[in-house]
Amino acid sequence: QTAKPDYRGAYHFSPQQNWMNDPNGMVFFDGEYHLFFQHHPFGDTWGPMHWGHAVSRNLIDWEELPIALEPDGQGTIFSGSAVVDWHNTTGFFPDGPGLVAIFTHHLEAPGIPVTQTQSLAYSADRGRTWTKYAGNPVLAREGWPDFRDPKVFWHETSGRWIMVLACGQTVSFYHSLDLKSWRHGSDFGEGIGSHEGVWECPDLFEMATDGNPGRTRWVLLVSIGDGGKDPEGSRTQYFVGGFDGETFVPDEASNEVRWLDHGRDNYAGVSWSDIPAEDGRRLYIGWMNNWRYAILTPTDGWRGAMTLPRELTLETVRGVDTLKQRPAREIQAARVPVLELENATLGEVREALKPLRLESFELEAQAAGGQSFGFRLREGERCGTSVGFDADSGELYLDRSESGDSGFHDHFAGRHAVEIEAETVASGTADPADGAGGYGDATTGLAKTSGRSAGAEKTATVREKIGVDDRREEGEAGQALLDTRLRIFVDRSSVEVFENGGLAITDLIFPDSEADRLSVFAADESLTFASVRIWRIEPCGA
Ligand code: FRU
Repeated sequence: QTAKPDYRGAYHFSPQQNWMNDPNGMVFFDGEYHLFFQHHPFGDTWGPMHWGHAVSRNLIDWEELPIALEPDGQGTIFSGSAVVDWHNTTGFFPDGPGLVAIFTHHLEAPGIPVTQTQSLAYSADRGRTWTKYAGNPVLAREGWPDFRDPKVFWHETSGRWIMVLACGQTVSFYHSLDLKSWRHGSDFGEGIGSHEGVWECPDLFEMATDGNPGRTRWVLLVSIGDGGKDPEGSRTQYFVGGFDGETFVPDEASNEVRWLDHGRDNYAGVSWSDIPAEDGRRLYIGWMNNWRYAILTPTDGWRGAMTLPRELTLETVRGVDTLKQRPAREIQAARVPVLELENATLGEVREALKPLRLESFELEAQAAGGQSFGFRLREGERCGTSVGFDADSGELYLDRSESGDSGFHDHFAGRHAVEIEAETVASGTADPADGAGGYGDATTGLAKTSGRSAGAEKTATVREKIGVDDRREEGEAGQALLDTRLRIFVDRSSVEVFENGGLAITDLIFPDSEADRLSVFAADESLTFASVRIWRIEPCGA
């Protein structure tokens, strides 16, 4: 008789009890990161939605607070955002800045059509208590059953609040001076992007490309619900373009869908509001689940977890502005060292991993470039999840087809992959601890580790295949091959893989309770690792 596995993440937020879906109202205020969430406090599947609430001072330790918003006569409380009203534009805060939540009221009653309207609630006590605005709703549109998930931000250039709202198969932009009265600006989405499911949970923010403040673009995130057509379920896409306070114009006419994450369990994510300018990061969190099987996952008494908080960046890849993500650097404070190997052979790594028993940890590996290798994680008698780089296809992948319990849905087991782009293969070797995004700011440039030449031919093939511009190497004679660098975050029911160039694969897994081993594998026994490091991740509150 095996014990029932405890799937609650040691360092991922999940509600103490019952159901959670989308992250909502993320805002930073007075030293606290607020995380509200779609919550059904009376059941472990989706139901009448409330806003649950948690706060953190370090993005690792989360304290769950009482429910912030409950259903009322205008409906249940669907997704939305929160902002700091610094200058009392609303008139709610005569005594200094406070928080305003902008959310969707969802009304479903027998005999009437479903309606969704946008409403406000405000708090003058750091989000502890909330008052719904007496003039709710502040925005309604007749005849639109899908009209929801307002994300609001202050737009400096036009000096007004902007709301981006999901409207069926498009998003709409509205603007306001006081958050109470809204005017329609424009719509976006017809004939572009993925329309496999209903458009939900948009976000719009400006980013400096490659950290260059002189070159900013706007990123529009749009989550795509499970329309039943895409075998993969619900996912999040993004667009890059220009925004003038009224209209979003995409940079690329190409209709190739661009996914935020290459796994299957990162949905409805949006970014934090009011991160101080001196910090300057665009911080993001997503719901680590997929509508395809969300209500069936085998957890007990609670259901739903968030991804790690991440930093989003916009980086040029082969001339195209590309959205990248890396774990928020705060996670490093929760590291407890377990293993550190440098310049190790495959055999040495294999031996070092053998005695380890780990459930919630981070593994960082830097392997000689262009060679296939990977790790099998949460490995037990009957299960294991493989994460690795396949040199033949140039792919980063996560294979959860034998990860443990997957019988709750036919579409759960599977392998998820993404081709690593040129810039990624050419990643630098800055110490992860140095940089803002965990891997340092240097995302291009040749690896400076010397002495490895095995695999040179293979590397050349991969580089050709993925179109690395070899001219970049001119004048770099004597430098070694480009390493493949992965950071893998494993928890009791999740794996998040980040490669150095900022690609991510996020997947849930439900391993057996005894599955706490890990091992390494490679196509070529001669593979060497510049480094392999492992930390237990232990938040102080855990
Ligand atoms: C996305 C979503 C939102 C909606 C909420 C309801 O997962 O469907 O569009 O506001 O969940 O819980």
